[in-house]
Order: sequence, then C-alpha cells, then structure tokens
Amino acid sequence: MKLGVNIDHIATVRQARRTFEPEPVSAAVLAELAGADGIVVHLREDRRHIQDRDLSLLKEVVTTKLNLEMGLSEEIIRIALSVKPHQVTLVPERRQELTTEGGLDLTKERKRVEEAIKLFKKNKIVVSLFIDPNREQLQIAKLVGADMVELHTGEYANVVDPEDRRICLHKLAESAVTARNMRLQVSAGHGLTYNNVQPITKIMEIEELNIGHSIIARSVLVGIERAVREMKEILLRK
Ligand code: PXP
Repeated sequence: MKLGVNIDHIATVRQARRTFEPEPVSAAVLAELAGADGIVVHLREDRRHIQDRDLSLLKEVVTTKLNLEMGLSEEIIRIALSVKPHQVTLVPERRQELTTEGGLDLTKERKRVEEAIKLFKKNKIVVSLFIDPNREQLQIAKLVGADMVELHTGEYANVVDPEDRRICLHKLAESAVTARNMRLQVSAGHGLTYNNVQPITKIMEIEELNIGHSIIARSVLVGIERAVREMKEILLRK
C-alpha cells in the first residue's frame, strides 16, 4: 500500500504567523526520506495554507509524485497547467469549509470535470477524481476519462457505531472492486488516522492512501521534546 503524505498543515503553521517557517518543501523532502510514495498539497482558492510558491518549489524538488488537489476554478486550472504536477486530484471546494467535506458530485459537475480532464490529459497530467464510494459516481468517472479515483473515507472515519463503520468499510471495499474492474486506479483518503487506518489497508484493490492531518499532528507531538531540548541548550549555553 502506497502512502501519499498531505503536507498542507505544515503551511497552516507557517501561515499562522505569515512567516518563513516551517517550509512545506523541507517537510516534503523529509517525508520522502522516511518512505512517502508521494506528496499531496491542496492549493485552495483562498490560499489559507499552501501558496503558489510552495507548489512551484515542490514541483522542482519532489522526486516521488506530486499530487495537486484542486477545485475547478479557472485560476487554479491555469496554475496547474503551468506547473504541471505529476497528478491532479479534482475535489469540490467551498470557501467556508474547514476541509473538503465530501466527494465531487459528478452527476452535477460532469461537464466541467470532463472539460478539465481533457486539458490535463493533453498536458500528460494524470487525473484522479475524489468521489464518494458509490457505483453511479464511479461510472461517470470512467465515462469522463479519469485515470484514477480517490474514494472518500470521511464518512468511515466519522462514524462511531461499529455496525455503521462495518457498512462504510463494505461500501469502500465494494467500490474499490468496481473501480478496478472498470480499469480505474484506486486510492482513498480523508480523515484517516493511526487508529482507524488498518481495516482500510486490508482492501487489496486500494493502491494508495492519502493522509495529512493525522501525520502532521503526530509529527508535532513526537518532535516537541527534541525541539524544546534544543532551545534549552541554547538558553543554557555559556
Ligand atoms: N484526500 C483528499 C481528496 C483531501 O481533500 C484531503 C484533505 O486535504 C486528504 C485526502 C487528507 O485528509 P486528512 O488531512 O484528513 O488526512
């Protein structure tokens, strides 16, 4: 199972002070050294975390795969076509949301998605569509020419009742099989954590998981002791 590490929240920490640290590109290099199979960023219209400069630097530096999550705005499409990441993942984007809240509704967005896919494919950029795990969305994803689908695991991650969780897992597994039978590549992500990820890894048809918040949250905690010790060393230096 491959791991795409979403580093948006490295930029969230930097943007909290509008300063120069931490650099997302440095985090990308370290994530790759640790075994990440890809780096994922979402260039949002409101630029709340990742900035245009980050994307250009990442394109230069990432040696695995740079996967740009993006909404369907003209401006972001133009930037994506100019930077040419290895892959784009089309997601729905609303300004007020804290994070992406669900998959694309391809029954409504079909025409816009189809047009965007044509542009990306002409530029040899792999296109993935972030969708909820259901057959209708998969069928449209195939018809509009997607290379890959990313199954939304947010509902699975949010439910608390074990039976509801079992149902969500079943939907994900069934959709992954359907997608593979349609010759779509399959990834999954959103809301996955150190506690809930394991059952998803058992779904053989899913080739890659994209995980962000939980990894960045843990990195802050596993790193804080060393960071404090290093500052104390400076303060105690004669
Ligand atoms: N996949 C997609 C399409 C997303 O929008 C996000 C959030 O940016 C993720 C995966 C990662 O989600 P999380 O930060 O909850 O791990």
